[in-house]
Amino acid sequence: MKSDFFRSCLLKNDLAAAPMAGISHPPFRRVLRGYFDGLIYSEMMSVEGISRRNAESMEYLDRADGEYPLVFQFFGGRPQSFAEAVRVAEGSAAVDAFDINMGCPVKKVLKAGGGCSLLEDLPRLREIVKAVRGATEKPFSIKIRVGVVSSRPVYGDILDIAEGEGADAVIIHARTKADMFGGTVRLDVLEDAASRCGLPVIGNGGVVSPETYKAMKSTGVAGVMIGRAMMKAPWIFEAVRKGAEPDGFLSPAERLELLKKLGGYMDEHAALRPKKRLHYMHVLRKFAVWFSKGMDEAASFRTRVYMTQDGEKVLRIIEDFFASA
Ligand SMILES: Cc1cc2nc3c(=O)[nH]c(=O)nc-3n(C[C@H](O)[C@H](O)[C@H](O)COP(=O)(O)O)c2cc1C
Repeated sequence: MKSDFFRSCLLKNDLAAAPMAGISHPPFRRVLRGYFDGLIYSEMMSVEGISRRNAESMEYLDRADGEYPLVFQFFGGRPQSFAEAVRVAEGSAAVDAFDINMGCPVKKVLKAGGGCSLLEDLPRLREIVKAVRGATEKPFSIKIRVGVVSSRPVYGDILDIAEGEGADAVIIHARTKADMFGGTVRLDVLEDAASRCGLPVIGNGGVVSPETYKAMKSTGVAGVMIGRAMMKAPWIFEAVRKGAEPDGFLSPAERLELLKKLGGYMDEHAALRPKKRLHYMHVLRKFAVWFSKGMDEAASFRTRVYMTQDGEKVLRIIEDFFASA
């Protein structure tokens, strides 16, 4: 059954928050929501873990009340496991939509036969799309790259598979696997994909400002997904909407408020998942260092905040720094 979930979300807000392992967890997603009413993707989760109801994997299906629209991203290499994981997820959580990771170049994902390794095995990629379509009526997107290397682009074949086998949207990280996270973002590929594909195409790669957003949007894509820039500035979604640069969009006092909010959301989430408490302290520290970018004395703040393991002290150092900036 065709769904207009992605199209209608993108009509309301044409930006999307990328799936980011270690970043796109429920507390961070709640912070993003303060600046953004569009599509937010979860961290990737293993279809093997979900299909076996592994307790740690199942935590990736946590979501806050009222968190909408949210897309759960799966990685893996076996069609059967995708089908089972989709069923388990739907039976255990509120699901708006799914995404299949076909663009991740990291070892853990490649070893599982997922991510970029699917770009080299289009028959298996097709079987996975088919298996997901056969297992759910929920909308789903796939997230791909241009190809493994630029001399052998495969996105065109994948767009045909996605359309033919019933996917609802395609995200193209417009780089190759060989590019990893650097290299040229291929706007020409996005232009070609948007003109030839009947599904909404979401472009991704290197968007950090209103200018880079406009350049990507001018290719004709239905949406623009932001990755790394949002971890350093979750307010980027509102900044881009208003045509403003993200640097300087929030004052140090506003950044501190945001960090406190994030800390509060982490506490709430850790009350349900006590094992996360220490992890979240490290995460908060990381965000504080990112948010200090461009501020005076940011380097010495970074040293100080990383010198202690005590959660209370970490908070005090963060407060002192941002409040006195
Ligand atoms: C720390 C980190 C974690 C990521 N985790 C995922 C993930 O879980 N799933 C995925 O499809 N891509 C993941 N990506 C890739 C991003 O979603 C995005 O495609 C990539 O960073 C390019 O966008 P950008 O140039 O805006 O950062 C990750 C990237 C980084 C840097």
